[in-house]
Amino acid sequence: MSLWHLSAFLSIILSFSHVTGLTHPTNPNIIIILIDDLGFNDVSFHGSNQILTPNIDAFAYNGVILNRYYVPNLCTPSRAALLTGKYPIHTGMQHFVQIPDEPWGLPLGHRLMPQLFRDAGYSTQLIGKWHLGFWRKDQTPTLRGFDHHYGYYNGYIDYYDHTHYMMSKNYTAGVDFRQDLKRGYLENGTYATEAFTAEAVRVIEHHDTERPLFMILSHLAVHTGNENNPMQAPLEEVNKFPHIINTKRRTYAGMVSSLDKSVGQTIRALSVRSMLNNSIVLLYSDNGAPTLGIHSNAGSNHPFRGQKESPWEGGLRSAGAIWSPLLKNRNYVSNQIIHAIDWLPTLAAAAGIVLPKNLHLDGVNMWPTLKDNLEPQSRSLLHVLDDVFGYSSFMQDNLKYVNGSRFEGRFDSWLGDLYAGEDDPLVADYEKLVISSDVNQVLDTDTLTEGRIQYLRGLATNSCPSNKEDHKQSIYRCQPLKAPCYFDLDNDPCERYNLANLYPSKLQLLENKVNNFRLSAIKSSRIPIPDLRANPALHGDYWEWWNDTVTEKVTNGAVNLK
Ligand SMILES: *[C@@H]1O[C@H](CO)[C@@H](O)[C@H](O)[C@H]1NC(C)=O
Ligand SMILES: *[C@@H]1O[C@H](CO)[C@@H](O)[C@H](O)[C@H]1NC(C)=O
Ligand SMILES: *[C@@H]1O[C@H](CO)[C@@H](O)[C@H](O)[C@H]1NC(C)=O
Ligand SMILES: *[C@@H]1O[C@H](CO)[C@@H](O)[C@H](O)[C@H]1NC(C)=O
Ligand SMILES: *[C@@H]1O[C@H](CO)[C@@H](O)[C@H](O)[C@H]1NC(C)=O
Repeated sequence: MSLWHLSAFLSIILSFSHVTGLTHPTNPNIIIILIDDLGFNDVSFHGSNQILTPNIDAFAYNGVILNRYYVPNLCTPSRAALLTGKYPIHTGMQHFVQIPDEPWGLPLGHRLMPQLFRDAGYSTQLIGKWHLGFWRKDQTPTLRGFDHHYGYYNGYIDYYDHTHYMMSKNYTAGVDFRQDLKRGYLENGTYATEAFTAEAVRVIEHHDTERPLFMILSHLAVHTGNENNPMQAPLEEVNKFPHIINTKRRTYAGMVSSLDKSVGQTIRALSVRSMLNNSIVLLYSDNGAPTLGIHSNAGSNHPFRGQKESPWEGGLRSAGAIWSPLLKNRNYVSNQIIHAIDWLPTLAAAAGIVLPKNLHLDGVNMWPTLKDNLEPQSRSLLHVLDDVFGYSSFMQDNLKYVNGSRFEGRFDSWLGDLYAGEDDPLVADYEKLVISSDVNQVLDTDTLTEGRIQYLRGLATNSCPSNKEDHKQSIYRCQPLKAPCYFDLDNDPCERYNLANLYPSKLQLLENKVNNFRLSAIKSSRIPIPDLRANPALHGDYWEWWNDTVTEKVTNGAVNLK
């Protein structure tokens, strides 16, 4: 066979394996680094000079910066959206988060991304946070498609002793950390970011490369720890930020810095196993940072309005990037509107997995757009529809609708502005710092020059076009608790000018869309009734399911891909 024939023959085999979705060593590894509560403005690739994140930035500049990437505004709905490819209103996950002693979680009927990838031959790994319910044994990750879970079930734990302490209740603080279903893998004293990174590296080191890897590294960082000790970071990391005066913010910077190091170690581990050349790595935050209020970590979503658990851009826009040698175009900033629901169809397409027809996904396959850097396509997104708390938010391309808010609107303003005088002195050598970072050392770096870094950073730095005070005129005032508001994000990404009074009929069109979505929404799955059987005192001081039910359907879990 001539070389030409050989390569033609090989490409036929390769394309064949892609359409059939059969297990094949060439299926790309999928690694999702899921960060918790990180502010849009707390990665330096979006322009902040206060907390420098050279590894995350090198990752982003070498890949595709997702500059208009949206997520649900809260942990549990955001994770449900990622794993199902559906809006939370279509899984019953649209209302609030799973509280430890509440008997509910992501309903079992939905086939999750790890199940679909496992059925396509992947080894499926969850490291870190789950937060989709654990009251019943069959709600937990290893019964929902993950071959292996090393981590915790609740929304957060102590960074060092890995207990979850529900301060509002008379429960003992229980350990919330396990390996698969087994307790006793406490690693008491190891900083959570380091414990999860070590496990990710271990999984990669021991991975059988005959199989593709699907791994979600779901960090505790940079969520707060327990309410009695919320801000925790290794002292040597915190000490890198003497230029930050506020001690809470300085500790937060230490949490971010530890996370940045973790990204370097994770990417390096993939490189050491020669897996990078066939991997897709996605990194993002589940929602915006809570600057103030409950579980506030002093994160910044500046210049955007609002924060976590609000209907504003500050809660909905996530700092994210994707990298893969399979992306034909890299080193660019994408302004494609993209949402957490899109990853299931997008990554399945990238991996050559043919999804069953009956999944009823809301997400869209964005792989061609990302891979070839195509013109951004038009997009409508339902951001929030929570009829229990009574607020909603919808977007059609640049036009956005907001009705109602949370916390009586207390966190509806522009939060997290950083003091200009607190820049990291190392910023003078920012580009060199990125180029010499761990991540940049192991990725294909020839194309990343200082000029390119500056150019991309400029494109990914968001600002409010008008800083005039005219938005304070009463015609533009938005009082979402009284009447819906309407914004043009192209001209007003910071949501300062409510145009509802000027364009009432345009607002009405968006409101109609929300009302249409309401027709297809299923009832919230939340059962807000505490079940005292959750008390860790009843489970050897561990957080554990209090119902042993394992359904037939779930144990089989199989999805027929034919
Ligand atoms: C709190 O829990 C402890 C043991 O779990 C119990 O002895 C005590 O009576 C409880 N107190 C209240 C106020 O429920
Ligand atoms: C973790 O270690 C600390 C310090 O040694 C100890 O006080 C605590 O009881 C340990 N926690 C558990 C759950 O073993
Ligand atoms: C990735 O690199 C390894 C080691 O050099 C090689 O064996 C493998 O074929 C490469 N895979 C792809 C998809 O290029
Ligand atoms: C707007 O919010 C108010 C108050 O929660 C609610 O009564 C009304 O139904 C909402 N409208 C829509 C279209 O969601
Ligand atoms: C466990 O959950 C199932 C399904 O909700 C329920 O029928 C059963 O009674 C529960 N068992 C216990 C011990 O609570």
